[in-house]
Amino acid sequence: MRTKRDFLNMTDLKTEEIFGILSRAGDYKTGRGADQSAVLRHKTVAMIFKKPSTRTRVSFDVAIAKLGGHSLALSGAELQMGRGETTEDTAKVLSRYVDAIVIRTNQHSEVVDLATGGDIPVINALTDNFHPCQALADLLTIYEKRSKLSGVRLAYVGDGNNVCHSLILAAAKVGLDLRVACPTGYEPKADVLKLAEAHRERPGSISITNDPAEAAAEADFIYTDVWTSMGQDAESEERRRKFAGFQVNAALVAKAKKNVQIMHCLPAHRGEEISAEVMDSPRSIVFDQAENRLHAQAALLAFLIEESGSND
Ligand code: CP
Ligand code: NVA
Repeated sequence: MRTKRDFLNMTDLKTEEIFGILSRAGDYKTGRGADQSAVLRHKTVAMIFKKPSTRTRVSFDVAIAKLGGHSLALSGAELQMGRGETTEDTAKVLSRYVDAIVIRTNQHSEVVDLATGGDIPVINALTDNFHPCQALADLLTIYEKRSKLSGVRLAYVGDGNNVCHSLILAAAKVGLDLRVACPTGYEPKADVLKLAEAHRERPGSISITNDPAEAAAEADFIYTDVWTSMGQDAESEERRRKFAGFQVNAALVAKAKKNVQIMHCLPAHRGEEISAEVMDSPRSIVFDQAENRLHAQAALLAFLIEESGSND
């Protein structure tokens, strides 16, 4: 009997599986390869969003439709979970109705409990700690631009947050040369760095600095994310002050390789973590990243459903 597979963070996939998903995503994007329209036929995917979303919510919905499945969007407030039903009980019940769960929530432990409680694949659509679906699409985007992942130099400049954590785990899986620059006190969590090294499958390097110029030097890609993530709004003034020297702007871009490309998971705040000039320049590939959410998640869903045997 096959066991179900979840995607709670990048460590849930072996490197070979990541490459398989990226390859399938490329095929879906270009229309090559097997027909995708029946992969989720007669299948329903529940999507629970307890935080706002544009890209993740819409791209999953469209991906499920393209795979021939049905999506069921649920806000946390309309479930009994919001009134105290346990996450595990919710998982057991949903497992009797639907074939997979996509969830965006605050605490990472909630997606772990959902995955443990049920017997269908659970996909993490962002928690306070991780954003693995974003990292998967980012790998697809980097691969498309440079035809390789191993040894690619990626500078992440900004908050050591959920997006940064997932890039760290992705880097160890595929062998990126990742240089993270954060203000003091906003570095990624030490246990995520340990987790990355424990799951490393390709040679590469991950370094942390408080100097954006050091991270950006000779970079192939410079990546940033908002200074204030969802749920941190009360800290936004303080964060604006502390992150002031960490904007991705023309001066920082000039430190990188001549053909550097600029990444951002979006939504962006022009004038804060990224200047409008850089965001809207030909170097910016942020909308390619956004598009790739669709193709990467379609391939991920297909993989998880097949691996879990739930398309038998
Ligand atoms: N990048 C990303 O996850 O965007 P949304 O919050 O709009 O889903
Ligand atoms: N770090 C951001 C990512 C949004 C996609 C947040 O959690 O709000």
